[in-house]
Amino acid sequence: MKITVIGTGYVGLVTGACLAEQGNHVFCLDLNQEKIDILNAGGVPIYEPGLKEIIERNLAYGRLIFSTDVSAAVAYGDIQFIAVGTPPSEDGSADLSYVLEAARQIGRHMNRFKVVVNKSTVPVGTADKVTEVIAQELLNRSLPSENFSVISNPEFLKEGAAIEDFMRPDRIVIGSQANAAGFAAKEMMRQLYAPFNRHHERTYYMDVRSAELTKYAANAMLATRISFMNEIANLADVLGADIESVRQGIGSDTRIGYSFLYAGTGYGGSCFPKDVSALAKIAEHHGQELKLIKAVEEVNEYQKNILVKKIINRYGKDLAGKTFCLWGLAFKPNTDDMREAPSRVVIRNLLMRGAQIKAHDPVAMHEARLAINGDMSDCTELLEDLSFHEDPLDAAQGADALLIMTEWKSFRSPDFHTLKQALAAPVIFDGRNIYDPQLIIDQGFEYEGIGRKA
Ligand code: UGA
Repeated sequence: MKITVIGTGYVGLVTGACLAEQGNHVFCLDLNQEKIDILNAGGVPIYEPGLKEIIERNLAYGRLIFSTDVSAAVAYGDIQFIAVGTPPSEDGSADLSYVLEAARQIGRHMNRFKVVVNKSTVPVGTADKVTEVIAQELLNRSLPSENFSVISNPEFLKEGAAIEDFMRPDRIVIGSQANAAGFAAKEMMRQLYAPFNRHHERTYYMDVRSAELTKYAANAMLATRISFMNEIANLADVLGADIESVRQGIGSDTRIGYSFLYAGTGYGGSCFPKDVSALAKIAEHHGQELKLIKAVEEVNEYQKNILVKKIINRYGKDLAGKTFCLWGLAFKPNTDDMREAPSRVVIRNLLMRGAQIKAHDPVAMHEARLAINGDMSDCTELLEDLSFHEDPLDAAQGADALLIMTEWKSFRSPDFHTLKQALAAPVIFDGRNIYDPQLIIDQGFEYEGIGRKA
């Protein structure tokens, strides 16, 4: 099939590359010339395991085109994926201007029947808006307005595991319109995804609004589990219980299950914070208040500072003269993504209290520098107290405590003897509960996790 993907951000690039890998011919459009140049030279502007190899291979096969040419892009694909950003507006709702501009361009340049697929996470009702915009453009060109249909096909990729998630999805959600063009569009989507359904059917067909809401409901449910566990972990700390035992105890109930029940320093990334807040806004817009969802957000904001609270309990509010080593900056492992990363909140807070910080992350240090420079723009002089270290042990040298902010595999079993010698004091604040508390204590460290008990 011939496919166009509009937007070569995270979702667009993974979608385009993986569909090319399945044998389709894919035209990836982006207005950012610099990005397109990087991609055409075999580079990848984001860090995602396995993506570079797929892009290289499919560029060589001639199945991937990267270009800034809008009219060529729209003319190319029978299926047009809209995978542009939907950043949060000031009030937390999703900003649809890029999505609607992509729709406008499709309407302006389309030359035959097109299936238009909303891949970006968009508020419920957006497919109708996209339909209106394209229909208006066709009307301006005196073309028939039934020559396209809009599909909602939300993505459920996890950063760091995106290729695997795309190639072996838990489910594929297709929301289509109940009219002739909608039936034709649904059939084209069925054919496109047929290779992913070979062993068993994973596609759920539904109406467009249900598909749009499915995406938000999935992320909000997962975020709710995390905030729930974070509250229970904080309670476990007070009660002297162990959250990992509790997780296993409740997870053994198949109605609950084990995954996404890990307490920590809060959820970050480009999806949960944005989508949870956008869902609350969607409801508000329709005169409803989602009390639970608002509480999920509140708990998460509190949790981002949980290590700082533990540090204050131990050392007091004024941290002048103290040095903290941070291992992990990205919002989760296997990515260099710093969006909404809890480490940013912790770094700002510790610097404001006079502490020195020595930070290390295996891949996110460049992104971290940019993000933190922005966060600290109102007090740039404090940046002198922050240093970045390629070697995790260099970062630990002379620090009063080690803080684990991201659960990178490489942090799981360091040489504890050398680590202890490097630190000025053998103290670990484990914000991701990656260590067995007893094991750490046996190595001669003091240990504080999130709801953990030795
Ligand atoms: C999330 C969803 O998991 C994907 O299904 C969805 O497609 C994606 O958002 C999206 O909407 O695009 P992602 O943000 O890449 O994926 O990362 P997750 O692995 O879900 O982690 C999100 C945050 O939750 C991280 O900060 C992680 O540390 C935190 N988390 C996760 C916990 O604190 N505890 C857990 O048990 C799991």
